[in-house]
Amino acid sequence: MNFAAVSPERLPDLLRAMPKTELHMHIEGSLEPELIFQMAKRNQVQIPYSSVDVLRAAYAFTDLQSFLDIYYAGASVLLHEPDFYDMAWAYFLKAQADNVVHAELFFDPQTHTARQVPMATVINGLHRACVDAQTKLGISASLIMCFLRHLSEEDALQTLQEAKPYLDKIIGVGLDSSEQGHPPEKFERVFAQARALGLHVVAHAGEEGPPAYIWGALDVLKAERIDHGVQAMHDTALMQRLAQERIPLTVCPLSNQKLCVFPNLADHNLGAMLDQGLCVMLNSDDPAYFGGYLNDNYLQTFAALPLTATHAYQLACNSFEASFVPEPQKQAWRTQLDACFKLYGA
Ligand code: ADE
Ligand code: ZN
Repeated sequence: MNFAAVSPERLPDLLRAMPKTELHMHIEGSLEPELIFQMAKRNQVQIPYSSVDVLRAAYAFTDLQSFLDIYYAGASVLLHEPDFYDMAWAYFLKAQADNVVHAELFFDPQTHTARQVPMATVINGLHRACVDAQTKLGISASLIMCFLRHLSEEDALQTLQEAKPYLDKIIGVGLDSSEQGHPPEKFERVFAQARALGLHVVAHAGEEGPPAYIWGALDVLKAERIDHGVQAMHDTALMQRLAQERIPLTVCPLSNQKLCVFPNLADHNLGAMLDQGLCVMLNSDDPAYFGGYLNDNYLQTFAALPLTATHAYQLACNSFEASFVPEPQKQAWRTQLDACFKLYGA
């Protein structure tokens, strides 16, 4: 592949067109203000914002917690199975427009079961949308159930128990919510149980928290991927391990900017991580809250950093490599990617 032959003017269109996976997207974080208000009305749920514009104006975050407070308030409008379906379907339409070929979606059941929404309602609604994404849009999609780390391990164990009738509808478990003060070690037993059930395991670590949380996610939880992981740059030994073992980091630049992890996109360490051989790729995290879906992440990050067609190819390849699908499928996507790059002169 002759990457140097791709002219810089055509790079944005190539970024839009190239096939890619999305591996770090909280489906509750794709709930747009308009849909929040629509669902609040149809479900007769009170929300403490008078209009779409007032709600959107509140999206001025200073750190992870300031975002999570609004994110959980937004999720409170989800009550019935069609709500979960509609939310996921709206995301899949955006994903299709961004040439996403495969998505592994996070969901936070504890946010819903705490409001007496049954686990069946959550999983069946999301799963039905995943099935339709495949049949109607040609996007393969699967679900990863996250435990909220600000809650207790007992709550997480109970949640795994409640999910047991639906294990055919989820591919793995993850760990999200408030990071600082809630190290991975708190969830050692529930992750061991999930692994024994044959589930994949991933964990948010090193978003705001220290590199020690990434070590913990790897060594104690046996995480196969690290979500965010951008703080790894402060630990040389950890960077070496991540590179050597090709442990993927699902990086979310617009999220990092909006939550003040980096002051500006131009300060993001994505380029440095790529150049050090890490298996990183781009993701949108909570696109309705952070000002952009997957292609917005690609376009804005490439506009802010000195990245080239070579980096674009590497990011797309990494997004395939890091996904939980069989190797022949990854190879098929690489072939598609090569054809796309050829169209753009490579
Ligand atoms: N839940 C939704 N988005 C999250 C993020 N960026 N970090 C931790 N938990 C989350
Ligand atoms: Zn996340």
